[in-house]
Amino acid sequence: MKSSKDIRKDFPILNNIIYLDSASTSLTPKIVIDEMNDYYYNYNANIGRGAYRTAIKSGQKVEETREKIAKLINSSENEIIFTQNTTSAINIVANGFPFEENDNIIISNIEHHSNSIPWLNLEKNSDNGCNNINVKIANANSQGIIDPSTVSELIDSNTKLVAITHVSNSIGSCQDIKEISKIVHEHDDIYLLVDVAQSIGHMNIDVKDINADFIAAPGHKGLLGPTGTGFLYGKEELLKKLIPKNLGGGTITNLKNHEFKLEKVPHRFEGGTQNISGIIGLGKAIDYIIDIGISKIEKHSQELTKKLYNSLSEIDNVILYGNPENIFSIVSFNIKGANPYDISKILDETSNICVRSGFHCAIPSLNLINANEGSIRASIHCYNNEDDIKKLVESLKEIVILFS
Ligand SMILES: Cc1ncc(COP(=O)(O)O)c(C=O)c1O
Repeated sequence: MKSSKDIRKDFPILNNIIYLDSASTSLTPKIVIDEMNDYYYNYNANIGRGAYRTAIKSGQKVEETREKIAKLINSSENEIIFTQNTTSAINIVANGFPFEENDNIIISNIEHHSNSIPWLNLEKNSDNGCNNINVKIANANSQGIIDPSTVSELIDSNTKLVAITHVSNSIGSCQDIKEISKIVHEHDDIYLLVDVAQSIGHMNIDVKDINADFIAAPGHKGLLGPTGTGFLYGKEELLKKLIPKNLGGGTITNLKNHEFKLEKVPHRFEGGTQNISGIIGLGKAIDYIIDIGISKIEKHSQELTKKLYNSLSEIDNVILYGNPENIFSIVSFNIKGANPYDISKILDETSNICVRSGFHCAIPSLNLINANEGSIRASIHCYNNEDDIKKLVESLKEIVILFS
């Protein structure tokens, strides 16, 4: 692995802050920013439209990113739809899947709202035109771990889709997604969507190995890409069955007398001008993390996560969540008697430490762990080092005294 010192040089923002909020959005390496600037300075043009050379180049660069993503997750390019973020990837499935009356969908009680609200909205509004869609909730234990048998027990003859997060963004708990997939695929005609927002880039994700039917992923978190990027993977035969909802330029091949013919998958889902510079930047970011080595990133993050958890467990009045043997790159905690928002603000103002506080867009999971005012969340990526952990721990030791 590139030394931690060398990695940190690629993120000039680290000269000013201690960044422990990569679960929200990661920092962007300079080469990614340079790559996006290169597009704007030298070949700024829309894709799939112009015959001139800069337009052809921008189109090729976007397709190169699609190839890189496909290689990264072991799929084919036709199975990758560019999206704005994880949320929009999940919504493509929620709003386009051909659900039928009385179908049910299984989610868990530790989902990010992006992987609960789109399904609950279907239950509430039947936006896709069918009535009586039901959402069933698989309950995780108090450490945020879902026993795969809980999913198995909820499956019935009306189950159509299981949508589960790989790593919880609020507790850091990592699910046995292969076992859940095995259970789901023991049934014909039930599909699995995995929300990999907190795992992609941090660990190797192979869609064939997991046997996921869909994965929803951000470009701007573990992959170190720019904001406004993400993708949906879907098995090609399933993408062909989804009904595209964002129709317009770039999504059809012919229009005559009110009739139109849809573009091939995946282009029929990519209506309108795409985030071209962002997608090109994401391609560079994937090169960057592959160059470092995802397995090495995983090991590095796990070591720092353990170190942070263990150091915090030695401070009186710190409440830690999750099982230290199971959490991944995220440590969620509270200080007795203190509001998490206040702690986050003090850490920033006294020590330039950036951590997330609150409900992390996952209210049910915070209720599960009885963190009624939310929690403080420190999250780790390849640019963090032991010094970051030490500084956070030292600062917290001083802050705890103020609240004891
Ligand atoms: C597990 C999980 N799912 C979905 C999302 C939504 O991601 P995005 O902001 O890319 O839409 C997040 C964001 O933090 C997340 O952690």
